[in-house]
Amino acid sequence: MKILVLGSGAGGGFPQWNCNCTQCAGLRSGTTRARARTQSSIAVSADGEHWVLLNASPDLGAQVRNQPALHPRGSPRDTPIKAVVLMDAQIDHVTGLLSLREGPPIELYCTPCVFEDLTSGLPILPTLQHYCGVHWHLLPVAGDDRRAEFRIGALPGLRLHALAIAGKAPPYSPHRHDPAVGDNIALVVEDLASGERLFYAPGLAHIGDAEREVMAGASCVLVDGTFWTDDEMIAAGLGPHTAADLGHLPQSGVQGMVAALAPLSAPRKVLIHINNSNPILDEDSAQHRELRRHGVEVAHDGMEIEL
Ligand code: MLT
Ligand code: MN
Ligand code: ZN
Repeated sequence: MKILVLGSGAGGGFPQWNCNCTQCAGLRSGTTRARARTQSSIAVSADGEHWVLLNASPDLGAQVRNQPALHPRGSPRDTPIKAVVLMDAQIDHVTGLLSLREGPPIELYCTPCVFEDLTSGLPILPTLQHYCGVHWHLLPVAGDDRRAEFRIGALPGLRLHALAIAGKAPPYSPHRHDPAVGDNIALVVEDLASGERLFYAPGLAHIGDAEREVMAGASCVLVDGTFWTDDEMIAAGLGPHTAADLGHLPQSGVQGMVAALAPLSAPRKVLIHINNSNPILDEDSAQHRELRRHGVEVAHDGMEIEL
């Protein structure tokens, strides 16, 4: 299985257009050793020819332009992007669908909650019906059903498993303060030939028994790297919200992501969806060094992972 990190940043990317925090300013002036990052999305393929996008970021156009594996080949209008799976209905994960409007109908996989949000509060789907059209594949993760296994027609080498997780519906959703099963999922992508498994969860508010069990079976976990500390945004004067308010588990602390990753045997433990406030972006920071000590990688745009 091949995994391409198209974008590794959280909403806003890095540097964020209106952010003058020490890290965004430091990246602009060249005084901070860090890489710019677009908003998070990955592409996965079993054969290197047919790809599925996990989330579609608003930066998708530039991401595809920068990624030769996703360029058209053959006929005058063509794309190796065969499907899109959405983890949630957040703006930074779905608005890239609009950038696919020049192509064939989008084979879209998402939960009923996400479908609802994208036909009401943020009606991207009805809008796309006037362009390329969307072929809907509902993942039955709702109510008491917390898991669903599915396949994607154009990618027969992969089997996918959706798992309901704790997170947050978008601010525009009626579920923002009234969570439902299916607002947020994690995805396991299994390569049927090799048996290798990727666990993908760019937004993960809590790791319970179900998540731990699934993560333990993965050879690569690519998980929520949004914040280092819970009050990071408040401490930097960037806003009133904690990581928990926004549905993200911070990395630090005894209950944090780094501690949760420690017992896993996965050879690759990688953080993605990194907010511009997170000190791990600064490659000279103590936090970046601490991650290296724990064998945890920080995803960057263009990163390739082969399982
Ligand atoms: C989040 O995950 O909370 C976001 O990155 C929010 C956003 O896209 O604005
Ligand atoms: Mn986000
Ligand atoms: Zn910033």
